[in-house]
Amino acid sequence: MKLTVIGTGYVGLVTSAIFSHLGHQVIGLDIDEKKIKSLKQGKIPIFEPGLEEFIFKSLRRKKLQFTTDYSQALKGVDVVFICVGTPSKKDGSYDSKFVYASAESIAENLQNYAVIAIKSTVPPSTTNAVKKIIQQKTSVKFDIASCPEFLREGSALDDALNPPRIIIGTETKKAENILIKLHQKIKAPLVATTPQSAQMTKYASNAFLATKISFINSIAILCDKINADIKDVTKGLGLDPRIGQSFLNAGLGYGGSCFPKDTWALISFAKKLGYDFNFLKQVDQVNQDQVEYFISQIKSLYSNSLKGKILTILGLAFKPNTDDIREARSIPLIKQLQKLGAVIHVYDPVAMSHAKKILKNVKFFDSEYTALEKSNGLVLVTEWNQFKKLDLKKVKKLMNQPVILDGRNLFSPQKVKSLGFKYIGIGRQ
Ligand code: UDX
Repeated sequence: MKLTVIGTGYVGLVTSAIFSHLGHQVIGLDIDEKKIKSLKQGKIPIFEPGLEEFIFKSLRRKKLQFTTDYSQALKGVDVVFICVGTPSKKDGSYDSKFVYASAESIAENLQNYAVIAIKSTVPPSTTNAVKKIIQQKTSVKFDIASCPEFLREGSALDDALNPPRIIIGTETKKAENILIKLHQKIKAPLVATTPQSAQMTKYASNAFLATKISFINSIAILCDKINADIKDVTKGLGLDPRIGQSFLNAGLGYGGSCFPKDTWALISFAKKLGYDFNFLKQVDQVNQDQVEYFISQIKSLYSNSLKGKILTILGLAFKPNTDDIREARSIPLIKQLQKLGAVIHVYDPVAMSHAKKILKNVKFFDSEYTALEKSNGLVLVTEWNQFKKLDLKKVKKLMNQPVILDGRNLFSPQKVKSLGFKYIGIGRQ
C-alpha cells in the first residue's frame, strides 16, 4: 500500500520506518527543508535504538522517500498519517495548530480517495475539526480516522512491530478495512472503533499508567515512614494478576513528552466538558511533589545544609536509552539543589548536549567516574544500564563522602551499605 506520513518527528519517523520495513511504499513529509535534506542521506535527528538502520535500509530498498512536496507525496496515496507535534498551551491543553495546518495542505493537494488518519495525540474533538477543514477545501472523497500510537522512547521499534494492541478508529467500514489491511503483518489484538473512542483510549492509557506511578510513589513515602521496603511491597502487590507488576517502580516520578503533557491535556479537556478531573490533578501533583520529597530526604543526610556540597547527578534523560530531557525529573531536581547551595556535577551517556542548553552553572563530565571525583553524594536520577554496573569500590575511593542518593531505587541498599556507603532510596530499607 502507499502511505504518506506527515511530520518527521519521533512518531512520524518510527511510523515511516516500520511501515516501509513491512513492505509498504512510504513517503515521509516535512515542511522543514533542512531536516528532509539530512533524512534523505539517512541521518536522523533523534536518538532511538535501531531507528537509523531501519531508515537507512528502507531508503536503500527504495521503500521510503522523504520530501517537502505535498503534491508529490499525496499522488496515489492510500493512507495519510498525520504525525505532527501537538505542544502544550499554557492552560495544559494541546495546541492543534500544526494538525490543522497539515489538514489544510492535505486538502489543497489530495488527488484521490484516501484514509486520513491522525496519529498525533489530540483531543477526541479534533477528528471532526480536521474533517471540516479538508471538506471545505476539496471535493475529493476521503475518510477521517484515528490511529493512536503507544510507542515508548527507547523501545519504539519493538513497540511498533510487536504492540500489545492496535487501535483503529474510523467512521466507515471502507476506511476500517484499509487500515486493517495496512496493519495486516503486525500480529496483535485489534480494536476497531470510532475515532472518538480511539483517542479516548490513548488518553486513558497514559493517564492510567501515570496514576500507577503516582500511586506507588505515595506508598513508597509511607514505606519510608514505617521502615517497610517498597520493592517487597510491589512484588507482593503485583503478584495479584488484577494488578500486575509493571509500572510500579517507585522513584522520582514520571517525565517525558507524553505522561505530563497528556495528563494536563486530559484535565483541561475534561474541564471544557464541564467535569473537574480532580483525581488526575492529584496524580500530577504527587508527581511534582516527588522531587521535593527526595530533596527533603537528601537534606536530612547532610544535617539540613547542602551549601558547598558537591552532588554528582548520574543521568539527565527522563528515562534510560533516550537523549530526551523533556519534563525530565533531573531538571527541577538540579535547579532546586542549586538553590540550596549545592555544587552540581553531572554525567549522562547521551543527554548532556540537550541539557547544556537548559542548565546553568553545572559542571558536565565525560564519564561517571570523573564526575564523582571529590563528590559528597552520588545522586542517581536515570537508571542507565551502565550505572547498574558501576564499580562501587572504585567510586568509594573517588568520593569525598561515600553517600548514594538513589532516585530510581537502582542499587541494593544492603549491598551498598555493606561497602560502607550511606544510602537513601525511595521507600527502601
Ligand atoms: C509513554 C507510554 O508508555 C507510551 O505508551 C506512550 O505512547 C508515550 O508515553 P514514554 O514516555 O516513552 O512512553 O516512557 P515510559 O517508558 O512509559 O516512561 C515514562 C516515565 O515514567 C519515565 O520518566 C519513567 O522513568 C517513569 N516510570 C515508568 C516510573 O517512574 N515508574 C515506572 O514504573 C515506569
